[in-house]
Amino acid sequence: MKVKYLGHSAFLIGDLLIDPFMTGNPNCREKAKDIKCRVVCVTHDHPDHLGDAFEIAKRNKAVFVAIHELAELAASKGIKSEGMNIGGCITVGGWKIKMVEALHSAGMGHPAGFVLENVKLGKTIYHAGDTGLFSDMKLIRRERIDIAMLPIGDRYTMGIKEAVKAAALLKPKVAVPMHYNTFPVIQANPEDFKKKCAVKVKIFKSGEEQDL
Ligand code: NI
Ligand code: MN
Repeated sequence: MKVKYLGHSAFLIGDLLIDPFMTGNPNCREKAKDIKCRVVCVTHDHPDHLGDAFEIAKRNKAVFVAIHELAELAASKGIKSEGMNIGGCITVGGWKIKMVEALHSAGMGHPAGFVLENVKLGKTIYHAGDTGLFSDMKLIRRERIDIAMLPIGDRYTMGIKEAVKAAALLKPKVAVPMHYNTFPVIQANPEDFKKKCAVKVKIFKSGEEQDL
């Protein structure tokens, strides 16, 4: 499965785009207008996650997936949207999308993480969104996570120390660090995360695509 990192917490996973903060992201060289996708998932409404989501979803006629309140806002702008809430699961395109908790804040609704299963490929990705460490990550482990995308930038989310513990609870095949070095206040060394992590870590350069 092709996974492309767009900087910060933004990834294009096959035809699913998540947290596309592109315009104004100093670590993103791609342009929002060039993105092609069928599903756009957003973990919460902070601008560094919602980013260009509405514009991209609208142009691609993609399905926008987020917490109920944020999905309603998208729908009011004429975007095809699927609202959901924590604990729920929906199927969109070839994806089983489960919304899980995140310890964070949000302007609308509640912040969330996603467990994304590509049905055809049988691969499962956990995108933690913005969150602190929580022990129920051990329940998310039961989803058999292939790839866990975890914030490591500290201050607004887990730092490296907690992200290492998160990876130990989740036991994914691969952990991918995110939400770091975009701004001076979230500086972190992903190599340090890699060194301390008990699971395999893949570090993406912004704009890099890997087959995972
Ligand atoms: Ni946030
Ligand atoms: Mn954030």
